[in-house]
Amino acid sequence: MAVDTRGARNWSGLAPAYADTFAHLCAGTIPALLDAAGLAPEHDVLEVGVGSGLLAARIAASGARLTATEPEPDMRAIARTNLPADVEVVAAGLPDLPFGDDAFDTVIANFVVNHVGDPRAGVRELARVTRHGGRVLLTIWPSTPTAQGTLFTVVLDRAGATPPTFDTLPTDLDFERSTAGTLGLLGGAGLVDVHAREIALVWRIGPDRFWAGLEAGIGGIGKALLQQDDVTQRRMRAAYDDLSRGLLDGDELVFPATAILAGGVR
Ligand SMILES: C[S@@+](CC[C@H](N)C(=O)[O-])C[C@H]1O[C@@H](n2cnc3c(N)ncnc32)[C@H](O)[C@@H]1O
Repeated sequence: MAVDTRGARNWSGLAPAYADTFAHLCAGTIPALLDAAGLAPEHDVLEVGVGSGLLAARIAASGARLTATEPEPDMRAIARTNLPADVEVVAAGLPDLPFGDDAFDTVIANFVVNHVGDPRAGVRELARVTRHGGRVLLTIWPSTPTAQGTLFTVVLDRAGATPPTFDTLPTDLDFERSTAGTLGLLGGAGLVDVHAREIALVWRIGPDRFWAGLEAGIGGIGKALLQQDDVTQRRMRAAYDDLSRGLLDGDELVFPATAILAGGVR
């Protein structure tokens, strides 16, 4: 069985901070995913890479029969606290799921395909476990700059930080992080009636909580922060405090975001 060590490595030790921060950004797609899935109690649904389980909890609440998977042990532990006792969180991930062909009516992966080591193999696996006529739904972040990334770039600049390096996939494995690129992934996995669209989200988060997520090393910008020495990190925090004050709505930062929601039929 092939193991995606990149995914496991990148999320190790991050689960509590993720649950407290970026999980709520990722949860912004839940209404659109549930709408696209049209779940009913007789549906067998697989969610892959459930993270802290916010979407999984909503799928379970719909009455559909949910199977959840998550490769990172601390994420699994948090997901269990958000899920009914009868929902097992299976220790598994792309590109090798421990399920037979055609096993589920609907297969969902929320911001997972953009984190795996081989996205094409990952989407093929999502398609394999979906029954003929069933639906695969996934979300990714497009490659366009994010509001929080733009803020962070100014913070890096003001603090005179060393330009960070980002962990990217080899070009032969990567895909274009756009609606066109995502359609290509789905079509390449043999899915039909494929669709992809951008959806607008808004993420509200307290400034200290956001910074704590970065200090834990979440996302490209968190990893970029941890690449700096202690003195530079302190300068970055001072620059962030100064800049973020001007962005507050009440006591929270408001980050508009764009996600890509895509899917297709097996
Ligand atoms: C950005 S988080 C999204 C979590 C959750 N789906 C959500 O919306 O909050 C990415 C998740 O993918 C998981 N992951 C990483 N590599 C994976 C793989 N190869 N297969 C499945 N999940 C993976 C991580 O452990 C993490 O929980």
